[in-house]
Amino acid sequence: MSILVTGGAGYIGSHTVVELLNIGEEIIIIDNFSNSKPSTLESIKEIAKKEIRFYEGDYTNKETLEKIFEENKDITAVINFAGYKSVGESVQKPLEYYTNNISGALILLKTMQKYNIKKFIFSSSATVYGEPERIPLTEECKTGGTTNPYGTTKLYIEQILKDLYKSDNSWDIAILRYFNPVGAHESGKIGEEPQGIPNNLMPYIVRVAGGQLEQLSIFGNDYNTKDGTGVRDYIHVVDLAKGHLKALEKLNKEKSGLYIYNLGTGTGYSVLEMVKAFEKATGQKVPYKIAPRREGDIATCYSNPEKAQRELNWKAEKTLEEMCKDSWNYWKF
Ligand code: NAD
Ligand code: UD1
Repeated sequence: MSILVTGGAGYIGSHTVVELLNIGEEIIIIDNFSNSKPSTLESIKEIAKKEIRFYEGDYTNKETLEKIFEENKDITAVINFAGYKSVGESVQKPLEYYTNNISGALILLKTMQKYNIKKFIFSSSATVYGEPERIPLTEECKTGGTTNPYGTTKLYIEQILKDLYKSDNSWDIAILRYFNPVGAHESGKIGEEPQGIPNNLMPYIVRVAGGQLEQLSIFGNDYNTKDGTGVRDYIHVVDLAKGHLKALEKLNKEKSGLYIYNLGTGTGYSVLEMVKAFEKATGQKVPYKIAPRREGDIATCYSNPEKAQRELNWKAEKTLEEMCKDSWNYWKF
């Protein structure tokens, strides 16, 4: 029995593969390294001390996928991490985003259908909630109103999965809505590597602390939050990775179903709190200035993670200090 992981060389995929290998799962990865590098695969093997089967290729290519399913008759489930994820870039290149994310998911699902493999875990995002109906966000909160093509791809794929399940309820699907993944594996061997100047807060903080960037711009201090800066639900990537193991366990236990879970900690931290926590955890200074609000940003976004706790027996365990330390530790290596 093995699990096919698309995008397994990426940030969240690589951490999830390590955790899956640690519990004895056999893993097959397909990745085209559009946003990752081959050495990550070596690091995964080093950390887990296990082998993986790897295909370099594009998951939007039907022939490549068919070859994988033909050559690996033991695949029982698929976790789909592959896709593009930059919000800003998606506004510039909507067709690339819709093609890679939505066509990719469709081709993958059609190929799974052909080979009668119906267990599927999908990387969704808190971005599907748009402007939050209420805080903390539960899975029942309304979705929609996404403000960029990236977010819309997640929303559409969720809808495609719901329609697919409605048409054939022998599918077994978990939609995982990630909040803000940060941190890295404690070994410092795998982590997040944004190309160019990072858009997200933690990678930016790390580069300022390391002297690669001069100072952090805090996008707005006049939000209706505890200190005026944006509040988010940061979650350690290893906790997030473990959420996938629990989701897989659920799919293996149930004959079929479509399940949606928030994967977050349930705690919101402001940008200023993040800066302070990072400085405290690492001893590094993070110079910052207050800048105008970033277009499309919301004031506050954090989860109610109780459903995942109740139904998956999963709970984020790592502290904010660990998130900061591990992010820094990875950068230093
Ligand atoms: P990532 O870019 O690090 O990983 C994605 C991986 O997929 C990369 O290794 C990339 O090379 C690969 N890939 C992309 N297109 C491909 C294709 N056509 N064929 C084969 N491989 C391809 O991103 P991540 O942060 O690990 O995110 C994983 C998933 O989780 C994505 O779908 C992302 O949208 C979603 N997500 C991420 C976040 C976040 O903040 N990181 C939050 C919510 C949801
Ligand atoms: C971003 C994405 C969202 C994705 C989420 C999860 C945008 C608009 N949205 O959201 O689609 O699901 O990541 O990874 O990019 N901040 C600064 N200075 C910076 C960077 C960020 O002040 O240089 C602030 C932001 O205004 C926000 C907080 O830090 O208040 C977190 O920002 P970020 O890491 O980009 O995450 P999200 O805004 O939640």
